[in-house]
Amino acid sequence: MGATAFFYILLFLWVQDTAATLGFTRSDFPQDFVFGASTSAYQYEGAVSEDGRSPSFWDTFTHAGKMPDKSTADVAADGYHKYKEDMKLISDTGLEAYRFSISWSRLIPNGRGAVNPKGLQYYNNIIDELVKRGIQIHITLYHLDLPQCLEDEYEGWLSPKIIEDFTAYADVCFREFGDRVTYWTTVNEPNIAAITSYGSGQLPPGRCSDPFGITNCTAGNSTTEPYIAVHTTLLAHASVVRLYKAKYKAEQKGVVGINIYSFWSYPFTQSTVDLEATQRCKDFMYGWILWPLVFGDYPQVMKKNVGYRLPSFTKVQSELIKDSFDFIGINHYYSVYVNDRPLETGARDVMGDMSIYYRVSRTDPPVGKAAPTNVTSDPKGLQLVLEYLKDAYGNPPIYIHENGLESTNGGLNDTDRVDYLSTYIGSTLDAIRNGINVKGYFAWAFMDLFELLSGYQSNYGLYRVDFDDESRPRQARLSARWYSGFLKKNASSIRLSRVQEDLTLNTVF
Ligand code: FCB
Repeated sequence: MGATAFFYILLFLWVQDTAATLGFTRSDFPQDFVFGASTSAYQYEGAVSEDGRSPSFWDTFTHAGKMPDKSTADVAADGYHKYKEDMKLISDTGLEAYRFSISWSRLIPNGRGAVNPKGLQYYNNIIDELVKRGIQIHITLYHLDLPQCLEDEYEGWLSPKIIEDFTAYADVCFREFGDRVTYWTTVNEPNIAAITSYGSGQLPPGRCSDPFGITNCTAGNSTTEPYIAVHTTLLAHASVVRLYKAKYKAEQKGVVGINIYSFWSYPFTQSTVDLEATQRCKDFMYGWILWPLVFGDYPQVMKKNVGYRLPSFTKVQSELIKDSFDFIGINHYYSVYVNDRPLETGARDVMGDMSIYYRVSRTDPPVGKAAPTNVTSDPKGLQLVLEYLKDAYGNPPIYIHENGLESTNGGLNDTDRVDYLSTYIGSTLDAIRNGINVKGYFAWAFMDLFELLSGYQSNYGLYRVDFDDESRPRQARLSARWYSGFLKKNASSIRLSRVQEDLTLNTVF
């Protein structure tokens, strides 16, 4: 038997096995539930200095050689030039929805004021392609790519001045695109972004202070700035929601939400202190954003542990923020174990204020300055997050905006990713059956992209992108074929014949 035939027999057995253990189909999900995939502007588009786009603080960060692999997203997946074929690919794959973000500095290069006609045209083109193909459009206004000019002018999210500029930017987006777009997310994961941008310094603007940084930061204060950045973000978010309600909602009938990073936390032991530490972790990681949105203020434990460093809301601000969302988006990748760590009396960063240690497993040593990333998959953890959000925050509509598996192997036969996606989708179904109001699921990522923490050293794509090839060709991974089969065939798995057919005839993909 040839090696190829042997491979297909193994693949066949594996696919059958997956089918047997899955036991659900697309039609088990509610009719109005959508399945899609995500990208974000800086990670996907490239063309960073083309057609009037001005730099975002990502360009500054990558050009200063701050990525572990020294990479930039100057070309990335070249989505600026390849969007048309990509939107077709989305439709051919059978995706029902697509989540992407707008580059603020492409649309409004000075951060405020004049709109760049070429930027406007680009997003209009994408939206029109998606509308034509009947794909539900989910736009994130801010996926962590601030115009550099606003960072230079007033230090971006550290200044309340950004509230007016962000609201004006959102106004342009609603005005120009809102006739065709009804699902809006203001900001992508402000909770973890604050920690990594202003605490550990791993993301732009790369600010941190000793001894809390993971990178060498030249400016910043890890003990205060993450809290200031989130505070400003919440005010900016609420201002955008108020604008939408006052000016657009009646006519456009859309919804506006915010997104949070959400890992599940298990107590490291069943000791009281570890159980309390686990709750503290949830109050910091979710409650930081969701307490203000649902109850109008920060969680008590944050006020207690952070003290005067935690900004406070005026009564008017609190009322503006409370209930300022139609849905919550979550990005979910893994679970962690949480271990109590005594509250230190000296200077503390967010991790110190949380007074916890993260652990990757029950045997690994504590993880230091940021949440761990390479944790083995735990589909049950997603269900637990969804159930917790229902219980703690009044059953808000939830979109799973990102879920996917990181790989350092760029191969096409990503059986581990199929396993990951299918079990996490199964876990989503379990949550829905338990009464959780989940409205959609988006895989991260539609294709390989410039990754925020690792550049091109790892990938998440359903489609492989060859970053060494100037034309950035896309190739379907097994995960793309599996997802497509799941969505199109209404079956729990694709059959081998289908995979073979696609590989040989090179149709559809
Ligand atoms: C999330 C980001 C997303 C992507 C994934 C892997 O935190 O929102 O852009 O990089 O991580």
